[in-house]
Amino acid sequence: MTDKQHLVLFMPSGKRGRFASGTPVLEAARSIGVYVESVCGGRGICGRCQVEVAEGSFAKHGITSSMENLSPSGAKEKRYDEKRGLKEGRRLSCSSTIEGDLVIDIPQDVQVNAQVVRKAADDRYIERNPAVHLCYVEVEQPDMHKPLGDLDHLLQAIEREWGFSNIKIDAHVLPKVQKILRTGNWSVTAAIHKDDEFDNPYLIDLSPGLKNEAYGIACDIGSTTIALHLSSLLSGATIASAGTSNPQIRFGEDLMSRVSYVMMNPDGREAMTIAVRKAIDALIGEVCETSGIDRHDILNAVFVGNPVMHHLFLGIDPTELGGAPFALAVSGAVHMKCRELDLTLNDGARTYILPCIAGHVGADAAAATLTEGPHRQESQMLLVDIGTNAEIVLGNSSRTVAASSPTGPAFEGAEISSGQRAAPGAIERVRIDPDTLEPTISVIGIDMWSNEPGFEEAAKKTGVTGICGSAIIEVMAEMFLTGITTEDGVIDGKMAEKSPRVFKNGRTWSYRLWQAEGGPDITVTQTDVRAIQLAKAALYAGVKLLMDKLEIEQVDCIKLAGAFGSFIDPKYALVLGLIPDCEVTNVKAVGNAAGTGAKMALLNRDYRREIEQTVRKIEKIETALEPKFQEHFVNAMAFPNKVDAFPKLEQTVKLPAKNDSDGSSADGTGGGRRRRRRPR
Ligand code: FES
Repeated sequence: MTDKQHLVLFMPSGKRGRFASGTPVLEAARSIGVYVESVCGGRGICGRCQVEVAEGSFAKHGITSSMENLSPSGAKEKRYDEKRGLKEGRRLSCSSTIEGDLVIDIPQDVQVNAQVVRKAADDRYIERNPAVHLCYVEVEQPDMHKPLGDLDHLLQAIEREWGFSNIKIDAHVLPKVQKILRTGNWSVTAAIHKDDEFDNPYLIDLSPGLKNEAYGIACDIGSTTIALHLSSLLSGATIASAGTSNPQIRFGEDLMSRVSYVMMNPDGREAMTIAVRKAIDALIGEVCETSGIDRHDILNAVFVGNPVMHHLFLGIDPTELGGAPFALAVSGAVHMKCRELDLTLNDGARTYILPCIAGHVGADAAAATLTEGPHRQESQMLLVDIGTNAEIVLGNSSRTVAASSPTGPAFEGAEISSGQRAAPGAIERVRIDPDTLEPTISVIGIDMWSNEPGFEEAAKKTGVTGICGSAIIEVMAEMFLTGITTEDGVIDGKMAEKSPRVFKNGRTWSYRLWQAEGGPDITVTQTDVRAIQLAKAALYAGVKLLMDKLEIEQVDCIKLAGAFGSFIDPKYALVLGLIPDCEVTNVKAVGNAAGTGAKMALLNRDYRREIEQTVRKIEKIETALEPKFQEHFVNAMAFPNKVDAFPKLEQTVKLPAKNDSDGSSADGTGGGRRRRRRPR
């Protein structure tokens, strides 16, 4: 029998080890790489190291776990409980020792201050190992016989108690050291930043006494919206979130028009850099105000964004991203001080920006990859973030490839005659009766479908004003399923015999989706169908190139990231052939995966190393240079595709019979052969 007789399983990480009687739980956890917070270094005063014992028999692990298998509460723990209060079942892991087999839960809700914690639907468990540590130390007082400076005493104490050596000090901290040591009566809390294991640790902030909270922000800079989360670095909890539209929109709607703006205006780059930094600073103000925290308590920040947003935020001219070879100024992760980015946080706060994958596949795609983890699994995962430029990552643990495809703004409704953004009054769901071609719609802001009682009344208030992104996909798919549109994307004039909703509109035909009294005539025109065909063909062709690269015929699962992906019905995305055939149940919307990835990198520096390594290995495909792009694009102009079969989809949806035409269009535009557009 070894002296390490007790089996302990830590949850939710699932890490386990054997330990001798009397081993402090905190020490045991750390020894097997389970991160448990500690600010006071085991003095029993910060309360950050709380754990819970899961009681019962865990047959799978061969553990019978009970509270009795922990040492009884000692004096330190009792004192903490009396002063601050410990929730029932909670123990301080620094002050309790292992005395038998245990299953230990590391709770995510360790709050020692009174701030309001926001519970978000997308809050997933993120194991923590942040780049900033708060280290409480008691420092030796000056002695005339030992001519050592106060700072040196402080650094010695940090090294002795926390193991950080060769600590460098931020210039703004140095002048304050003596005063803070005396104010804290020689007890202080040092904030140490150490990201990479090879980095020197930096003393970035110093507070008198016990400072028991530190925050970080994770921010996704999208070309349309900026989303920011404030998290506790000490518990991982999301404290507040806020979002705003990107003020750069006034310089150009999409990425390439912003690049053009920089090219045409000598101070364009600077104006856009200032605009985005100001917007982010205002969002920081907003989350601090809602949660009642001081922005100087924010010590770490992580940013992600597509390459153009990334460059403009960093103050880099994005002109090179506007044309081949789409050269990034920097592709690796960027480390800076937040104040160098004009953000008003703690003076020592550090920024980490995730690496970019390629000239069109940015740090946002890297963050989404980190969240969804195609590189961590065996099955083939397709991860798509659909915006005006779709970012596509495909692969598994053995090989991952990435590309971008210029889908343009059609999916967002910008090139659609009745398109509008998602707002009250916008049609968001569409069904069309295959016999009568009569539509049933649902509208944002109205709880019932249009064929249910009360709809008309409700619609008088909101109006029915246009079609938003999700409904554009649905109406196009339903038009195809009901035969209004042919496989080649032609609105079929013969259907006018079946319903007056199909009507002649100049040289082509249109479908009248909705017209309420006094409201706009909401129609789908041939040009609208063509715009969607071009957008989806670009997306699909990009995906196919990646599948060719991996020599695979099918994908196992598909993750649709971003705002657009969150609202579209996977079934309809498959019917239109935006994405390759897949079990409908394996196609999932994953929300703001980029924002979640930023949060993961904020709370755990191991994730930073993971994505840096992964990005280095991802093979980048430049779709513009691939000879097969055009062929895939032409085939993908058809619904769902001219040559690729969708057998898995057909288990769920009956697709119209294929015709044998060559893909040329009846309206004479030669839609199937239109040249690929590349934003410039
Ligand atoms: Fe501070 Fe346990 S480490 S109370």
